[in-house]
Amino acid sequence: MKTIRQITMAALLTVAGNQIISAADGVVINHLGTSNTLVRVSNDARYVLFPVEESVDDATLRLLVDGKAERTFYVRLARNKADYYVPFDISAYKDKNIIFDVVTAQSRSSVREASDDACWKLISLSDTFDTSNTEKFRPAYHHTPLYGWMNDPNGMLYKDGTWHLYYQYNPYGSKWQNMTWGHSSSTDLINWTHHETAIEPDGLGSVFSGSCVVDSANTAGFGENAVIALYTSAGLNQMQSMAHSTDNGETFSIYPGNPIITLESEARDPNMFWNRETNEWNLLLAHALDHEMLIFTSPDLKEWTLQSAFGKGLGAQDGVWECPDLMQLPVDGSDEQKWVLICNLNPGGPFGGSATQYFVGDFDGKKFTADTDSEGNVPTKWMDYGKDHYATVSWCNAPDNRHTVIGWMSNWQYAAEVPTRQFRSANTLPRDISLFKGDDGQYYLSTVPSPETMALRDRMTVSAKGKSIGKNPVKFTLPTANDGICEIDLSLNAKKADKVTVTLSNSKGEKVDMTFNPGESTFTFDRTQSGITDFSHDFPAVVTAPTLRDSKLQSLRIFVDRSSIEVFDTEGNFVLTNLVFPNTPYTTLSVSAEEGKANLNSLEIYSIKTNNN
Ligand code: FRU
Repeated sequence: MKTIRQITMAALLTVAGNQIISAADGVVINHLGTSNTLVRVSNDARYVLFPVEESVDDATLRLLVDGKAERTFYVRLARNKADYYVPFDISAYKDKNIIFDVVTAQSRSSVREASDDACWKLISLSDTFDTSNTEKFRPAYHHTPLYGWMNDPNGMLYKDGTWHLYYQYNPYGSKWQNMTWGHSSSTDLINWTHHETAIEPDGLGSVFSGSCVVDSANTAGFGENAVIALYTSAGLNQMQSMAHSTDNGETFSIYPGNPIITLESEARDPNMFWNRETNEWNLLLAHALDHEMLIFTSPDLKEWTLQSAFGKGLGAQDGVWECPDLMQLPVDGSDEQKWVLICNLNPGGPFGGSATQYFVGDFDGKKFTADTDSEGNVPTKWMDYGKDHYATVSWCNAPDNRHTVIGWMSNWQYAAEVPTRQFRSANTLPRDISLFKGDDGQYYLSTVPSPETMALRDRMTVSAKGKSIGKNPVKFTLPTANDGICEIDLSLNAKKADKVTVTLSNSKGEKVDMTFNPGESTFTFDRTQSGITDFSHDFPAVVTAPTLRDSKLQSLRIFVDRSSIEVFDTEGNFVLTNLVFPNTPYTTLSVSAEEGKANLNSLEIYSIKTNNN
């Protein structure tokens, strides 16, 4: 196991006025007042390790290199104790004078009091930073950052056999701040390699969500097949900026002419694509507070013309509209294609907080028109009926005409409070989407786990067929290896039963109930007794999906990782994504039926193969 080589805390005595301050080797602290301190560090280590205490406010750190302001960032510098450390890489500043000019948020009555803060003794230098997993709730086969906070996946791009996943990232703490594009990549959508951060904050602000395209015809002038990123620069206000990469998305150069789109009101999360029908670029921008998506066109990715706005008064209108996507999808079992506009919103989801709605309709390159129902209304449709599915958008340039999406597996209601520390938030499994026609004549999104997820299956630990199910639960053992991570594949026939419930439980009495109600055509997920739930009153929840089918048959693929459960209807009609924090892993699967007998047609449980433990 790698270890953090923290340079010894051997006291270095510095006299500042009449204060005597001790700090680690290579770190000199000068207090300038009750809330302003200079931290000088020697330049012969790779990292400065900053101690973080999550419950205190952010301190503002201005990095001065040879006296020049290089960048500003924010860290919850420890006042009483360090919950964990975050590394700041100073290797680019060899042979230079490095000072962090720190302004702390906490008010102090005297310099004496300010100098007592724990951080001044705990800031240290190191050549290494330990990123090995230290937490039981860190997923084993879902993508997570190595450390720090993650929210939206964004800028996802497939190129030359590699799936790139960029994401909203705070490298300096496990709560939202310092938005930067983190970067991971994968050749199989399952095993992820972590890369250096791709786009960092600059003078225009931090780097909010956006998208990438491959400019194969060199319309922007950065070269054939350059990767072009558009993102929101979030300073005092929000504006849209550009960056490009000529090394397949590894490093980006920020466009000197930024910002390239400015508006007089809050707009963010540019999502662009090449429109093959009109031979120009399209861009959607979330006009967040106005609850609409702005639609632009461009010949060269730099000059954008606003063509229309979609959404005022339609669908769920609460909170803010964020993270749009627009794509043409095939309708299963037909030659038909329809356009789908994805609109993430927060709050205002069906079960509180964040969720992803979508509109099905037509798009002529300039204007999106949503389909209406038989009464002439635009129906509100949800992509996932769990509480922990947000900011979902698709990969640009995916192979074989695939439409592959991934979401942020959390909810703004409590994302910063979940019981993890070293990292916060994971992504959903990747999913492939298409459309199907429901019994009501409406088009709905069909969501299935991407085919690559089949490779996760390791040993089949349970195989059962044709079991009659009644009131008394029929029990099966979940795999024990690797904290019980598994895939459960089952097919039920409710027959005469009113309800069939699949329960995952552990020896502490913690459980998750998943109930299929064929009469009401619903599927319900209850996590009120799932384990640790008290970190937020919004966490315990019972959520319900419409099965969109009048049928007694139900087939499911259920993916259990250390702190998440994703339930997919095998045919893609519905999906629910929910976090769970059991004190010990679930060990038992039980199936029971109410008011009559049901049948468990088949059950297969697989342990999971993973390199990412
Ligand atoms: C959505 C969002 C985006 C924004 C980003 C900032 O979760 O609010 O609208 O770009 O997060 O991190």
